[in-house]
Amino acid sequence: MTHLIDGKQISKEIKDELKLEVSRLKSEGKQVCLAVVQVGANPASSVYVNNKKKACAYIGIESESYELEESTSEEELLKLIDTLNSNESVNGILVQLPLPKHIDEDKVIRAISPEKDVDGFHPVSVGRLWIGEKGFLSCTPAGIIQLLKRSDITLDGKECVVVGRSNIVGKPMAALLLRENATVTIAHSHTKNLKEITKRADILIAAVGKARFIDEDYVKDGAVVIDVGMHRDENGKLCGDVAFERVSKKASAITPVPGGVGPMTIAMLMNNCVETARQ
Ligand code: GUN
Repeated sequence: MTHLIDGKQISKEIKDELKLEVSRLKSEGKQVCLAVVQVGANPASSVYVNNKKKACAYIGIESESYELEESTSEEELLKLIDTLNSNESVNGILVQLPLPKHIDEDKVIRAISPEKDVDGFHPVSVGRLWIGEKGFLSCTPAGIIQLLKRSDITLDGKECVVVGRSNIVGKPMAALLLRENATVTIAHSHTKNLKEITKRADILIAAVGKARFIDEDYVKDGAVVIDVGMHRDENGKLCGDVAFERVSKKASAITPVPGGVGPMTIAMLMNNCVETARQ
């Protein structure tokens, strides 16, 4: 029987654990506060931002909302980040991406203090991850590690293949798997003989960005398949990077879309916020 890895359930467990921890921190006089910054009104960003604020409310984390006009200049945004960096009552800063085209995202990411970088996107956080120092972890890959661990899937010595090399998912995913003593391959759009490589995987992470791209021909019998994709197909149905119906017959465990990796990203963002108060 293929095991369905239930991200909704696991993320709920994590949020409930965090809720208890926040209440304990409050009893010690420690508050947790996340500043959420959105520039413009990209509808998808508004949904994500609202979900993040709802998760904060559920756990007992305060959230301060900054909804800025699409026309906000880079200078104004950098000034706000500066103010939030030096505001001691703000523990974490989240600037929702993508930003309008006239704003340099890299500059904005670098402006956030690494000590408040709950997204784990700052080069200091990325460097800490690769050298094994404590720091904020990119939320989606950290969530995938939790999904695997909490499903009793061992990583030590396993052959893991990550398809995708983005800064937000593919690269930090590889670093985290390596930290768990897995053998890691990163494949991408220039990889030759992709199917041969993905078929070696005990654990296959699909972060390709193409709807239902990974079918059964890419998957070894009994592999664990994690689907990072989120797309709407021609019928308006949500789907991932994996052809779920076909691959689930071959995999020993698989994440669904929706309800797999997605909910874990927010749970790990909340974990990073709480981390700021743990120290
Ligand atoms: N846009 C899409 N995903 C994310 C995320 O994880 N963090 C931020 N800041 N923006 C995003």
